[in-house]
Amino acid sequence: MPHTQFVHAFREAAPYIHYLRGKTLVIGIASSLLQGQTLASIAADLNLLAALGIKLVLVHGSDCQINELCKQAQISPHFHQHRRVTDTAVLTLAQQACGQVQFAFQAALSLGFAHSPQRTPRLRVATGNFIVAKPLGVLDGVDMDYTGQVRKLDCAAMADYLAQNAIVLLSPMGVSMSGQAYHLAMAEVAAAAAIQLQAEKLIFLTEWDGIFHQNNELAHELTAAQAHELLAETTPQSPILHAAVEALQHNVSRVQVLSGSLNGGLLRELFTREGVGTSIAPTPFMTVRAAQEFDIADIIALIRPLEERGVLVRRSREYLENHIHEFHVLENDRQIYGCVMLKQFADNADVAELACLVVSPNARDGGYGDLLLQHIISQTKILGKRRLFALTTHTSDWFAERGFQAACVDDLPPERALEYAESGRQSRVFVMDLSN
Ligand code: ARG
Repeated sequence: MPHTQFVHAFREAAPYIHYLRGKTLVIGIASSLLQGQTLASIAADLNLLAALGIKLVLVHGSDCQINELCKQAQISPHFHQHRRVTDTAVLTLAQQACGQVQFAFQAALSLGFAHSPQRTPRLRVATGNFIVAKPLGVLDGVDMDYTGQVRKLDCAAMADYLAQNAIVLLSPMGVSMSGQAYHLAMAEVAAAAAIQLQAEKLIFLTEWDGIFHQNNELAHELTAAQAHELLAETTPQSPILHAAVEALQHNVSRVQVLSGSLNGGLLRELFTREGVGTSIAPTPFMTVRAAQEFDIADIIALIRPLEERGVLVRRSREYLENHIHEFHVLENDRQIYGCVMLKQFADNADVAELACLVVSPNARDGGYGDLLLQHIISQTKILGKRRLFALTTHTSDWFAERGFQAACVDDLPPERALEYAESGRQSRVFVMDLSN
């Protein structure tokens, strides 16, 4: 890899590393991923997350392993509404499967992250009686037997281990108040853990690339409401979607679903802007809001390259500090993707000017420029202005296509016309009539 790519990637990761340090992530891992090279590479990346100071609670699945044991015992597995029906024989196999997976997982986690166990201190893995279960009971006339649900979790005990820098590993098994073992669904345990531990994120490593829309397209981002809509149809993804919606409704701020077999997928999802799978949030990711002082550095990063090419007029840091309240920024998932300025004039209260409209190069074609424009138009109307000017040297077409009319310098407020003359940029003047 060229060193510039490495440096770029590491810088991109830095804010996420900072943000996740000390936070709790609950990660549910599908059973099919828990073997061989896939398990080894997931375990190595989990070690890396732990080394960055992220507190991890892992929940492993067990379905593939139980199915395999059922096959060997010539028992045909029964499911109802995507839940396994656990009779006495299956319960024994479920315990066996969970024991094996848990041990294989611990072994893989003990190997460290750099294929050099002597250089990474061995991760501590805590397992235990953290889950209190209760029976699921009879669903639509089907007795679910020893299939259970989470009654509560011993969060204090888990928090103690996390505080000692241990990873907590949960199996999808729990014991009831009266001492009976129940088999649980991985996704449900993970959601309950994320909610009760007030985790920052709930992540699912699955055999899919993420959550799919009804048309089978991968969803890059979803709101909780969109995820909820997808639940209308029952699919193999429903248990994960259900857990995601549940967690988001209970103050978990992000659920991310991605492929566990993609090498380094977890790192790419967490430490790049783009991610690889589906990110689900309670509210829409994209917002346009008034800029604040802390946005100045991001605004400078957006506009400097364009100033250097002469597309935008140069604005000094002092200018930005003094005029930050005239700026609006487009924020997507805590990142600034664009900015725009709305200028008002002391000598003409009827007009305003849109300026400094910029969208980040890695977010082009997303219609973000239009979002910023719409925002400015509605702000201008709220301010009671009748006309909105825009001056441009390079992007006349863009404004013309969006309903701006060509105008001349004399239409500008006198103060602005003077500035125009002094700048010598010979920009084209456009105006949009907002009076009706
Ligand atoms: N790395 C960021 C995060 O973890 C952004 C991930 C975006 N992922 C996506 N599938 N859209 O929050």
